[in-house]
Amino acid sequence: MPGNTFGHMFRVTTFGESHGKAIGVVIDGVPAGLSISEQDIQRELSLRRPGRYLVSTRRESDDVEILSGVFNGRTTGSPIALLVRNVDVVSKPYEELRYTPRPGHADLPYILKYGFENWDYRGGGRASARETVARVAAGAVAKKLLGVIGVMTSAHLVSVGTLSLGRDVSFEESLCFRVNNFRTCCRDFDRNVESYLENVFREGDSVGGIVEFISSEVPPGLGEPVFDKLKADLAKAFMSVPATMGVEFGVGYRASSMKGSEYMDSIVVRNGRLRYEKNVAGGIVGGLSVGEEIRSRVYFKPTSSIRKPIRTVDLRSMDEKIISVKGRHDPCVAVRAVPIIDSMGSIVLADHALRAGLINPVKLSSEDRDRAEDVWRRYEEIVRRRCGG
Ligand SMILES: Cc1cc2nc3c(=O)[nH]c(=O)nc-3n(C[C@H](O)[C@H](O)[C@H](O)COP(=O)(O)O)c2cc1C
Repeated sequence: MPGNTFGHMFRVTTFGESHGKAIGVVIDGVPAGLSISEQDIQRELSLRRPGRYLVSTRRESDDVEILSGVFNGRTTGSPIALLVRNVDVVSKPYEELRYTPRPGHADLPYILKYGFENWDYRGGGRASARETVARVAAGAVAKKLLGVIGVMTSAHLVSVGTLSLGRDVSFEESLCFRVNNFRTCCRDFDRNVESYLENVFREGDSVGGIVEFISSEVPPGLGEPVFDKLKADLAKAFMSVPATMGVEFGVGYRASSMKGSEYMDSIVVRNGRLRYEKNVAGGIVGGLSVGEEIRSRVYFKPTSSIRKPIRTVDLRSMDEKIISVKGRHDPCVAVRAVPIIDSMGSIVLADHALRAGLINPVKLSSEDRDRAEDVWRRYEEIVRRRCGG
């Protein structure tokens, strides 16, 4: 079974390679009646676009075309096909690298599985993070659909290398990633990340980082016991993003060194609602959402393509060889991974909202549509109010 499709009711199939003609996605399962435009999708795609300072210098405008499934600005219930053409393709540096696989990238594993002669070596081929354009396009549709139940999603960069934000932020504050260059929640930290990455880049090196996913409060009941628990599906979605090393929820790995009394989260009544006092679990208990914000952190490794010398093997002679990777690379992939994590989280929540019966899977009412539009506008309102964006 190939693995290019994700989700059950909100079902996403991506296609395309880094240096092929285009990247695209087919989304099946979006109910009829959701307003969606190319501008809506463009708004999210602009957050992951390369070609900025200290991210890959590949210049892609990432203009999206809606090929099907939308008529008169509304979804019809048919599969939605979205296409983004690759424009700025420079394959020359990869001619040299072809016989000297980059350790840490997917070059050698793809050669071993699919055969050297079938491997698209240009820019990482299918293993390139260029594929995630399709995920962010699908994420825009998922985000819009989640508006029907009033749920919003966000993500932000919480650390690069040894530099860390070091404090918790509110959902609204995290949305400022949308206007800050390095996709952090706040200007000061953004500036620190910039100078940190400048040094790393100057040395011809790269660093890892951590991205936090946050949703607004999610209604209880999302998640399907026992294998499709919400945290299991989120973890799979996040871990399918290239360069991820781990996922944690709430207090996360720290829980393993805590005492039960320390971890314990009291159930309390607030404003007539049952709540968890500290939300240590990150909004998911027993695999189900419990009415709190979902909080998860995703760990990224350093970019494997670096200018510093790397040891590998020349596949023609089988001799060891030293390479230095000169192409257009991100010194820290976690920066551009922020909108990708946001999108993958929204895809999982939309899928589970449909599965839980919280969104009509066939047709949205006009109230549903209006609510979705309101929530969609709220993203920009919050950013304007909180971040001066
Ligand atoms: C947004 C983003 C950008 C990336 N850019 C690069 C890059 O410029 N150079 C590179 O070597 N890897 C880059 N990667 C990581 C590789 O795609 C990834 O390491 C590779 O596919 C191997 O997969 P794995 O690290 O998950 O094992 C990027 C990842 C993301 C999420």
